[in-house]
Amino acid sequence: MTSLCFRFLFLTLSILAVTVAAHNITDILKDFPEYSQFNSYLTQTKLDDEINSRTTITVLVLSNGIMSDLVAKHPLSVVKNELSLHVLLDYYDPQKLHKISKGTTLTTTLYQTTGNAPGNLGFVNITDLQGGKVGFGSAAPGSKLDSSYTKSVKQIPYNISLLEINAPIVAPGILTAPAPSPSDANMTALLEKAGCKTFAGLLVTSGVIKTYESAMAKGLTVFAPSDEAFKAPGVPDLSKLTNAEVVALLQYHALNGYNPKGSLKTTKDPISTLATNGAGKFDLTVTTAGDEVTLHTGVGPSRVADTVLDSTPLVIFTVDSVLLPTELFGKAPSPAPVAEPVTSPSPAPTVAAPSPVPVTADAPSPLAASPPAPPTDTSGESPADSPDGSENSTAQNAAVHVNAPAFFAVVVTVVCSVLLS
Ligand SMILES: *[C@@H]1O[C@H](CO)[C@@H](O)[C@H](O)[C@H]1NC(C)=O
Ligand SMILES: *[C@@H]1O[C@H](CO)[C@@H](O)[C@H](O)[C@H]1NC(C)=O
Ligand SMILES: *[C@@H]1O[C@H](CO)[C@@H](O)[C@H](O)[C@H]1NC(C)=O
Ligand SMILES: *[C@@H]1O[C@H](CO)[C@@H](O)[C@H](O)[C@H]1NC(C)=O
Ligand SMILES: *[C@@H]1O[C@H](CO)[C@@H](O)[C@H](O)[C@H]1NC(C)=O
Repeated sequence: MTSLCFRFLFLTLSILAVTVAAHNITDILKDFPEYSQFNSYLTQTKLDDEINSRTTITVLVLSNGIMSDLVAKHPLSVVKNELSLHVLLDYYDPQKLHKISKGTTLTTTLYQTTGNAPGNLGFVNITDLQGGKVGFGSAAPGSKLDSSYTKSVKQIPYNISLLEINAPIVAPGILTAPAPSPSDANMTALLEKAGCKTFAGLLVTSGVIKTYESAMAKGLTVFAPSDEAFKAPGVPDLSKLTNAEVVALLQYHALNGYNPKGSLKTTKDPISTLATNGAGKFDLTVTTAGDEVTLHTGVGPSRVADTVLDSTPLVIFTVDSVLLPTELFGKAPSPAPVAEPVTSPSPAPTVAAPSPVPVTADAPSPLAASPPAPPTDTSGESPADSPDGSENSTAQNAAVHVNAPAFFAVVVTVVCSVLLS
């Protein structure tokens, strides 16, 4: 009976896991070499993850000739915006296209969700024209229906539909937007504007900003805690940390590589941060509930709040709580004390020791082996993962989502014990 219950639990959890990825756009398009460029750009821009994490969508694909033209003239960040306008957040198969009520409709696209689209720039107008022709265009006033439906590519009812159109849908200004080159992005200014002054200040005084900047060209994802997050109860007194610990803490707030929200949503394995210095060290896990993404450090959860900047290959998010790695703030008796000296604190090309700041000079100190600075005023027990975590703070909101699977397990356990009794 008990094993039956476990099997039940396992099965239900597996079903939960499976529903995360219902389709794989890359896999679907692999069968259509005429769209190989479109497919390749979905991958490069990580729009594939965004598409895979959604259902009831329509992708308006472009053939290789049209794509070549588009990508030759525009930088990747512009191509991403342009292609996100081709992902409709509704399901249209060829039948539905011809059955639009009153013959015309506006539909939301992925572009609308990026925050880059003011007004109705992120909407697409679909109009059933005379003679069975269906036209697509930007919903912005004065736009023409310059793209036409040519053929159906594939449908998985009612999850995803792929339709071919004969020209890109262009929203006003979308192609002429200046590509914010990551090297031009003033990270400190952006962070300050987004309400992350404390974090920006720490990056500068510790010199870690240089590590971030040198990683930017190859792709960087930043999780910037808001100023409120630093004031939340349970956040340790940073002035009590060694310089090396501050460096590790700040490096822990960024990942190598461009990981926009859609990619975070489809992440299953623990992810390495810039602070990672060995397998499983200084990593983060990710959970998703609907559109909400939560990061888990092992010490506590933190909700990914806003996107400050999403411009391939740089993405900056704000997070509700300071990310506290277990390596620095975890339970006191570390299960496996690190004997060997900790090597380079980051897999990223470490920037030459920033001379004005003494901080990184002693970075290779055995961080993990040093006694973890205990979080302020917790009566003996660690403020850890305990699902019934009684501590307040902004993390609490996020904890609701975190606990969904745990809650589920509790339900199953209760059901099982009822069955057993
Ligand atoms: C459609 O998506 C749901 C998850 O949202 C999944 O359970 C179902 O299997 C998918 N349908 C098909 C035909 O793939
Ligand atoms: C989707 O399919 C591609 C190509 O078959 C594969 O490389 C990729 O890992 C798949 N993605 C997921 C999330 O399974
Ligand atoms: C779509 O565009 C056409 C042509 O510009 C226009 O007549 C129609 O009203 C638009 N549809 C909607 C729903 O705005
Ligand atoms: C970036 O912005 C900060 C704060 O706004 C400013 O102090 C700094 O000079 C700027 N750096 C560059 C390179 O423009
Ligand atoms: C938690 O929040 C409640 C109500 O918001 C408050 O009464 C209580 O003092 C808080 N506890 C802590 C530890 O901050």
